[in-house]
This record gives sequence, structure tokens and C-alpha cells, in this order.
Amino acid sequence: MYSDLMLKTWLQEHTLQSQAMKNEPAFFRNLEQALDVRRAGHGLMTAKPRWDKSVIDWTTSDFLSLNRSGRIREAFFEEIARHDNFELSASGSRVQYGNYDYLKEVESEVADFFGAETAYITHTGFHANVSAVATVPLPGDAILYDELVHASTHEGMKLSVAAHKISFLHNDVDSLHDALTSLRDSHPAFKSGAQSILICVESIYSMKGDVCPIKAFIDVTKELFPLGNAQFIIDEAHSVGILGPNGRGLISLLGLEKEIAIRIHVCSKALASTGGVILCNKTVRRVLIHQGKYITSSGAPSFPMVASIRAGIGLLRNGETKKAQDDIQHIVKYFFETLTSNPIWEEAADEGLLSCPLSDDWEARPYVTHIVPIFTRPGHEQYLFFHLVLRNMNAYNMSPPTIPKGTALVRFVFHAHNTREQVDTTVAAICDWAREMLDIENGESGNTLPSAARHVYSRIDDLRS
Ligand SMILES: Cc1ncc(COP(=O)(O)O)c(C=O)c1O
Repeated sequence: MYSDLMLKTWLQEHTLQSQAMKNEPAFFRNLEQALDVRRAGHGLMTAKPRWDKSVIDWTTSDFLSLNRSGRIREAFFEEIARHDNFELSASGSRVQYGNYDYLKEVESEVADFFGAETAYITHTGFHANVSAVATVPLPGDAILYDELVHASTHEGMKLSVAAHKISFLHNDVDSLHDALTSLRDSHPAFKSGAQSILICVESIYSMKGDVCPIKAFIDVTKELFPLGNAQFIIDEAHSVGILGPNGRGLISLLGLEKEIAIRIHVCSKALASTGGVILCNKTVRRVLIHQGKYITSSGAPSFPMVASIRAGIGLLRNGETKKAQDDIQHIVKYFFETLTSNPIWEEAADEGLLSCPLSDDWEARPYVTHIVPIFTRPGHEQYLFFHLVLRNMNAYNMSPPTIPKGTALVRFVFHAHNTREQVDTTVAAICDWAREMLDIENGESGNTLPSAARHVYSRIDDLRS
């Protein structure tokens, strides 16, 4: 049973270590001591055991089911067969020997598919963000960023020489407006165009599942900076495959390709491969190559990786993924309908026990996204996770620092392979849990903990052994 394996691994990883390391080198004991602080709070990030297909998948990044179905593997082998004398390694970085013809050919195809001047393939999406954010701003420039941007953007900012790094409220046009106005009015170099501003946002936010109001952001920015010295970098990690014509992403859906300086695409999610893509013009590409030591002081992507990216993009381009893209729309809407029509859900929402902001006005939106968080009271997210995992469904709980302080959620990621029956089972499980919690809170249960948490805690010794 997956839940036993999962909980066993989790508990083993949370067993305190430093005490038992008294006679070990202090270097390692100090590290374990630091980890013990997180273990004590049950907050250690742990590598999870992989589950089989009997577990209901509310977690993987295989949104379009290209990995699970084996379709990406087939397309990959077809691509390999067309190039049977390939050299596996790039054998150097871009600025040395690594800029091979096949890589250049695929980059130009990818740029063409996404309507960009150029595409630059990196080893990971994380790398792509770090490199672009760290490299592009010049000394004295500014970076403005949505408070919920991904860790890779934060890492890029740490490495950047930009003089100002300022956050604005999540998806808030007024807050961006205020941050831009303040920069313009306090530093003449921004007003005159002598210094630039890079604004970092994401198409679909990976924890909240909401969509960036990018059109309104662009309008505000152009109005305040008509000289064009404030430009956007948008991370499309979650929108490729999900939004836009043939899954080209949010910017293509809105026809804003020419308005965005840098787009980051991630191949490890819907494309079922690995790698990142930086879409940009020739100037930004020259800067990345000239200054981007994070990518150029590193071997260029190998042939198999680039071939797998080409295979994935090929499936999007030839329309094979359109049905999966539609299926995701349908299954998420079915989830919203099923959840919000359950009377227990209504009571739980009224009591502030659970909320699902994305389910509120979904009918008014032109599309839904595949990431749906259910918020609960801090501390309860783990109970809900236990409840679901014991019923053979996998939706991970999230707490700070991955999400803002004072919040707690269980995140549901929808895929083309999720079925209506799975939605029915999951909504019933969420609502059973809510009923139990409401009874506990109302003093109508003899317990202080819900049954799944009691079950896990009562088996701690057993599971640890
Ligand atoms: C928004 C966002 N950007 C970037 C990345 C990193 O992508 P990759 O897995 O290719 O490193 C992720 C992955 O979780 C992500 O969610």
C-alpha cells in the first residue's frame, strides 16, 4: 500500500539524528543538527517514494499525460532514429565547442513555434530563470517582482548586480503601479531611460493556480515608462501545454509575444522532458552568452535532452495534445461543480475551515487552470494530506516557507488522465474529512484529532521500524 511506504519514509526521515552522532566529525553533526530543527517541526523536505498508477495522481507534472501514456517516449525514439549517428555529448560549453548544429536547429524551431526571435535551451527551467534574472539587469538597474515568484527567480536576484530588488503584491496592478511610480519619481535615471527595470512574473502561479493580469501590467508599465526601459520576464512553466493555441502558453493566447522581453519555458512539466528555454530577442541572447556564466561556464545541453524537447514540442505543434488540453479544462470544471455543490463543503467554507478561491467564479472566466489549491487552517493541511493518502490519493500539503506565512493548503494538480470517478472519490474524501473536523470543532466528537491523523500517529513506532 503506497500510504504505508510513503508515511514510513516520511517518518524515518523525521527521526532526529544529531544525538546519535556524538562521535562523528563535527562537520556532519552540525549539518544534522540544523536539519533536526526542521525535523522537530515536521517540516523537513524529504524525497518521496514513487507510487504506482493505482494511486490517484493529484501531484505529478505530467499534465498532458505524455509521460504516463508513453507517447513522449515513442516520439523521442522516432527523433533518435532520424539521427542515428548523433554525438551524445555537446563536449563543451556554448562559447567553446558546444554550439552544435542540431542544438541550433532545434532552438530555431522552438523560437518559431512560440513566435519569438530566438530561443536558448538550458539544462533546466530553474537554470533558465537564474541565468536570465542574474545576467540581464545592469549595475544600477532595478528588478521588480511579484511576491509569489518561484524560488529560481529569487536565486537569480541574489546573484544579480541590480541596485534595487523590490516586490509588489501578488497579481496586484495598483501595487505594481506604485512600485514603478516610486522608482520613476525617486531616481531620475529611471525617468530618463538611462537605467532599466526588469519585472518578474509568472503566467500561472504554481501554488495558487491563478493567472497573471499581464495585459494590465503591460499597460501600466508602458504608461509610466514610455521610453521602453521597463520590460517583463514571464515564467510560463505552468502554462505551456495548458493555455494558448496548441498549448503555446499565456502570452501566445493573448497575442502579446512582441510585448515581452523574456519568456521562460520549462520542459520538465507538460512537455514530459527536461530543460528550460529562454525566448528573447537577439540582444538579450547576446547578453546571455556574453555574461551568463551560469549557463556558458557549463557544458551545453546534450543531444538526448535536446531531442526530447524537440519530440515534446513536435507533439504540441502537430495538434496531438489538443484533446488532453481540453480534457484538463473539463475535469477541473467538473471538480469545481462537484465540490461546491456538496452541502458539507458549503458548511466547511462558511465556517472558514476550507476555501477554494478558484472555484468561486470559475464560470465567469474564459478558462481554468490545472492547479487548484484548497486552503485550510494552518496545521490542518497535514491532517487532510494524511486523510487523502490513506485513501490512496496523492495531493501534497504545503506550508511556509514554500507559501506565505499564516497560510496552509493542499494542492491539487489536474491532468488529462484524471477521471470523473477520481474527482467524485476525492471530493467525497475531502468532505468526509471536513465533516470530521467540524464535529471536532463543535465538540460533537470525543476526539481532538481526525481519524487519519490518529491512525498515523498511533502507528509511528510500527511505521518507523
Ligand atoms: C514556476 C516554475 N519555474 C521554474 C521551475 C523549474 O523548472 P525545472 O523543473 O525545469 O527546473 C519550476 C519547477 O518546479 C516552476 O514551478
